Amino acid sequence: MHAPAPDNQFALDVRAGLTQPEQKTLPCRYLYDDIGSTLFEAITFLPEYGLTRADTRIIEAHADHLLDCLPPGLLIAELGSGSGAKTRTILQAVGQRQKAIYYPIDTSAAALARCAKELSPLGTVVPLEMDYLDGLRAVAAARAPGQRLLVLFLGSTIGNFEPGAAIDFVASIRQELAPRDALLLGTDLVKPTAQLLDAYDDPTGVTAAFNLNLLGRINRELQGDFDLRQFAHVIRYHEEAQRIEMHLRSRVYQIVSIRRADLIVDFGAGETICTEACHKFYLEQVETMAGAAGFRLEQQWVDEEWGFAENLLICP
Ligand code: AVJ
Repeated sequence: MHAPAPDNQFALDVRAGLTQPEQKTLPCRYLYDDIGSTLFEAITFLPEYGLTRADTRIIEAHADHLLDCLPPGLLIAELGSGSGAKTRTILQAVGQRQKAIYYPIDTSAAALARCAKELSPLGTVVPLEMDYLDGLRAVAAARAPGQRLLVLFLGSTIGNFEPGAAIDFVASIRQELAPRDALLLGTDLVKPTAQLLDAYDDPTGVTAAFNLNLLGRINRELQGDFDLRQFAHVIRYHEEAQRIEMHLRSRVYQIVSIRRADLIVDFGAGETICTEACHKFYLEQVETMAGAAGFRLEQQWVDEEWGFAENLLICP
């Protein structure tokens, strides 16, 4: 076996996560290869998973009001290249007032290409294949004097951070911005446990496939030999922590080898790998987070059908 190539971040992260002494983990960003992204897209159509539709509905209902809250001469940057529908609505509303310039920031070239193809009829699309904060820095540096920036961070991806790290991340966004710039932040809200469990463990099994695909990806890219049938999709809700967790539970005692991560690892019967944590918010917590990160909370729009809030944060 060979040590993982030092530039293979996936191999390094897999080895680090699966050799943790207590709870084994895998970083949730690796859920989204081409298969994983396609499965996530399918999740957004499930009746049990109302999050994305709520996000879209709020934006469709309030895009004009949103722009009324902001100065003219806006550039739009998005962290994650975004699902067409939400961004389309915002670009259409911007396009009625001014020429729309849109910078999607994503580390997936494929996602950026799809997004550019989809949205370029609505304005100038400048894809940036970069980490979120590096991309934001590049956009902030490229703007002309007087141009204000609206940053979109939708879909409740902020929920993947631990609460402290979420504040730090929003503060890092704030650092790249200037007075009167804005952040539109999507946050899924605390809701009845049964509703959350259904949303993350749907009866069709699409979320289970999305979760298991992470092991498939390790097999494909890192020469692993996971037997996907020997793992089960499990969802846990921690009420005090307001956190849904996705796990993969080993059905039996087993030994797995992952060649390109230089790893042989065993799993006890019933042992789990935590693959994602999604924190849910109360409205007041978003306001506190905004303030702690150096923003002023200008507006919160809440969906009537599914507890989800779109929060407009302004740089004072
Ligand atoms: C893309 C992180 C918002 O937390 O609901 C969906 C990912 N995981 N079903 C979420 C996800 C399982 C999703 N986010």
